[in-house]
Amino acid sequence: MSRSRDIDAYRRRATSYDAGPRGGMHARIVSRTATLALDTVPRPSRVLDVGCGTGLLLKELLERAPSLTRALGIDPASEMVEIAARENEGSFARFSVETAEQLSAPNNSFDLIVSSTSFSHWHDPGQGLKECARVLAPGGYLVLVDVFSTLALPIRLFGPGGAAGSKERASRLLDAAGFERASWHPLFASVIKAAVAQKPARSVA
Ligand SMILES: C[S@@+](CC[C@H](N)C(=O)[O-])C[C@H]1O[C@@H](n2cnc3c(N)ncnc32)[C@H](O)[C@@H]1O
Repeated sequence: MSRSRDIDAYRRRATSYDAGPRGGMHARIVSRTATLALDTVPRPSRVLDVGCGTGLLLKELLERAPSLTRALGIDPASEMVEIAARENEGSFARFSVETAEQLSAPNNSFDLIVSSTSFSHWHDPGQGLKECARVLAPGGYLVLVDVFSTLALPIRLFGPGGAAGSKERASRLLDAAGFERASWHPLFASVIKAAVAQKPARSVA
């Protein structure tokens, strides 16, 4: 699927995204992602969610991490961003229409970046990871959750992110972006896994 058709599909799906069994499955993945993120960085201060969709993950992190002082979610699908902002009304979370490949945040802005089932949609996953490394503070962590499995060959071959869905390729892209060697964690069913990677304490940005 082309880049704009993929994003258009999410714009159209936005209002029904959280509904039904598929919505329930996404909510469970989000919840496990939040748990892993808080196991990794128990008292985060500034968090970025890349490909935030309807904003569920930031909502849960805000509920579970009182240490947070800043929360930003970005997504190229404007309808998703509108719903995320509405769902997080009254909190200090902010949402913006952006892609992973071109983040507007300054260097070293966050101590935690999370991303749940978005990576395989990035049209240039290597560039997206470089942007994550740039805006992450030295010593900060990226928790990257997605389908990483040989069982997901169709996504790897035909998804907009090309072979991003291979664990080996994602590890290489994380290395190339300047992250320290990633650790891998099972997250949901057998195909959804998480890479947890740290930006070296000495800045590479
Ligand atoms: C399967 S949804 C996941 C949404 C949310 N993270 C969740 O867990 O419910 C994938 C999201 O990635 C977004 N996306 C697509 N291309 C992207 C890109 N280049 N950069 C960041 N996000 C992107 C889509 O708009 C969509 O909202």
